Amino acid sequence: ARSAPVITIDGPTASGKGTIAQRVARALGWHVLDSGALYRLTALAVLREGGDGSDEAQAARLARHLDARFESDTVFLGGEDVGRLIRQEAVGNLASRVAAWPAVREALLARQQDFRRAPGLVADGRDMGTVVFPDAPLKIFLDAGVEVRAQRRHKQLKDKGFSANLDDLLQDLRSRDARDRGRAHAPLVAAADAVTVDSSHQGIDDVVRQVLDLWSARGPA
Ligand code: CDP
Ligand code: CDP
Repeated sequence: ARSAPVITIDGPTASGKGTIAQRVARALGWHVLDSGALYRLTALAVLREGGDGSDEAQAARLARHLDARFESDTVFLGGEDVGRLIRQEAVGNLASRVAAWPAVREALLARQQDFRRAPGLVADGRDMGTVVFPDAPLKIFLDAGVEVRAQRRHKQLKDKGFSANLDDLLQDLRSRDARDRGRAHAPLVAAADAVTVDSSHQGIDDVVRQVLDLWSARGPA
């Protein structure tokens, strides 16, 4: 399983990673890893213990013992369907706080690597290409302008029935990006061997096609 191919998709919040990862995985018949969901689940577990993410030992303990189960379009925490709950911006923001703790990242590392199974894995997050799957044969760094990303996230939240304010969202995305890029451990950065794709002016279908073309041009080695 450790030799199964991996396509990594890293990038800032709301750049389209999750959507593109799902579509590419479906096209190839591969597994997916939404690594951000593990950080979001950890954040939710912290919230439920009344924490605020400032206690590294607490967050790491909860990360280590996460009772998480992934299904095709949702995720369970301790048997409860929390797929919708963890998509809230408040959970995303707390996720980016707990994700800065090295002990939390360490606690989630092996669990993420266990998703690598034949025939292949598409993994999305911040450090998939740099830390979790450094030997991945294809690494994508997916980017888009912050205003485009805020608009996309705004529409996405509205479509799901959440209330969202575009200006607040833009501020949230900016501070989350700054925290994710600026942290000492596994910061958001393109791997040296990553292909950067800017989707600011590209639709989902175009990006998916580009990734699939890159894959058929490079792999399987
Ligand atoms: O996973 P990540 O936070 O990077 O982003 P996402 O949840 O996959 O995408 C955020 C929103 O942008 C979704 O509603 C996508 O449908 C949309 N999107 C888009 O409109 N055009 C793209 N090229 C990529 C994503
Ligand atoms: O969908 P969106 O891009 O907004 O967020 P996400 O991918 O669900 O990740 C939520 C938070 O978890 C991010 O802001 C990161 O701080 C953290 N994260 C991380 O540190 N490393 C990863 N591989 C994935 C997510």
